[in-house]
Amino acid sequence: MTDTILIFDTTLRDGEQSPGCSMNLEEKLQVAAQLETLGVDIIEAGFAIASPGDFEAVSEVARQAKRATIASLARAAAPDIERAWEAVRHAVAPRIHTFIATSPLHMRVKLNKTPEEVLEAIERSVGLARNLCPDVEWSAEDATRSEPDFLARAIETAIRAGARTINLPDTVGYATPETYGAMFRDMISRVPNADQAIFSTHCHNDLGLAVANTLSAVMAGARQVESTINGIGERAGNAAVEEIAMALKVRHDVMPVRTNIVSTEITRASRLVSAVTGFQVQPNKAIVGANAFAHESGIHQDGMLKDASTYEIMTPESVGVNTSNLVMGKHSGRAAFRQKLEELGYALGDNAFQDAFARFKALADAKKQIFDDDIIALVDDEVLRGHDRIQVREVEIYCGSNGPQRAILTLEVDGEEKTVTARGNGPVDALFNAIRLIVPHDASVLERYEVHAITGGTDAQAEVSVLLSEDGRTARGRGAHHDTMVASARAYVNALNKLLVKRGRAPVAAAG
Ligand code: KIV
Ligand code: ZN
Repeated sequence: MTDTILIFDTTLRDGEQSPGCSMNLEEKLQVAAQLETLGVDIIEAGFAIASPGDFEAVSEVARQAKRATIASLARAAAPDIERAWEAVRHAVAPRIHTFIATSPLHMRVKLNKTPEEVLEAIERSVGLARNLCPDVEWSAEDATRSEPDFLARAIETAIRAGARTINLPDTVGYATPETYGAMFRDMISRVPNADQAIFSTHCHNDLGLAVANTLSAVMAGARQVESTINGIGERAGNAAVEEIAMALKVRHDVMPVRTNIVSTEITRASRLVSAVTGFQVQPNKAIVGANAFAHESGIHQDGMLKDASTYEIMTPESVGVNTSNLVMGKHSGRAAFRQKLEELGYALGDNAFQDAFARFKALADAKKQIFDDDIIALVDDEVLRGHDRIQVREVEIYCGSNGPQRAILTLEVDGEEKTVTARGNGPVDALFNAIRLIVPHDASVLERYEVHAITGGTDAQAEVSVLLSEDGRTARGRGAHHDTMVASARAYVNALNKLLVKRGRAPVAAAG
């Protein structure tokens, strides 16, 4: 058995299934490129049959990937599998990932199939996939609630039909490290043709055990792990790739295996995914949270000053956090700004850099002190809306105790500028009414509207988050600006853009 653990990243598929999350084509391509730089071995680029947009995204990622294997998910049905193949066939290394549920509950309630019918479906679907593509992965959805005897027969059938990777997902996050590891040990030892496949983990985090379960399975013989950047994914999310990679690196003494992850690219990947999805990373999140390397208590600070290893088991630099005392202000030039971005883990293309620099200069004119958090908010905001179809151009608000409050708003929609005036019950209502006038979207509901100041001081930038829902789909948007109303318009319009990506995506049954 090799000591290399293959990292299968499903940020673009399972991660993108998070409620409120969606990425457009350009964003997916940016994330895929960073995943390759990060060193992941396999990128699950999407679910090709879900919508024309998903198909296009998987195909483009497949065409642009330089090294990584590109997978598309497919149910155990010919149209899914054929569509998946169409999407990935241009990749340097294509993979079809097909799945069917194997637990009694899912087979009865969801599939309405007998166990024998499921075995037939596995044989047919994996066989078809294998005729199209040399690299086929098969997943036993809800493996952890499946009967071990049946699961073993299902795995044997999939390997006989040509699957070379066998994934045993903890679809509902029900397993514990002990039970999950034991399942792998059991299956690897009892399935007669197990030596012809690589066993893979896929853990959801409903009980907060996804990473622990993944590592337990690795110790039991799994050699591929499925995970997402920042742990995003359905419900409580998936196992976080950065946590798995660093646990294996830092505790190599007790888990003597390796990955191909370039750990210094972790922060960059985390920031990018947070920016394009609008999902903020919680401050105390392991490895990539803002406080992951912060020390505030006096005893800890004292220890750190004497020797950093007293309270740090890995260095910030090892995950790509570079700290410096580079103070930014209105006299800072392009070179200093570029260096600061690098330290903060950003790599922007030329156009994005020029736009971000122009905004930085405008902010530095308006605000006395520029903190790292200001720059992070500004760049995330820039990355977030770079490819949006609807862009905010100008916002003018009339408000105060003598109403009516009104907003004059200019948006650019698919390249064309439109200006309207709208009234409302307060400035935010007036502003959002103006957006609705330019881009009618009656069915949408504003579920949440939150404002927070990025730093202290009355001249702080505001960061606004909104959650919009429409026909059971939700989209999160974020906007930052030193004017709260401009930040509000940017956040709402950002969510609306994400809703546009989701419109037309047929609900796809059962891929948790
Ligand atoms: O959680 C799950 O079971 C999945 C499979 C479709 C791989 O995401
Ligand atoms: Zn999943």
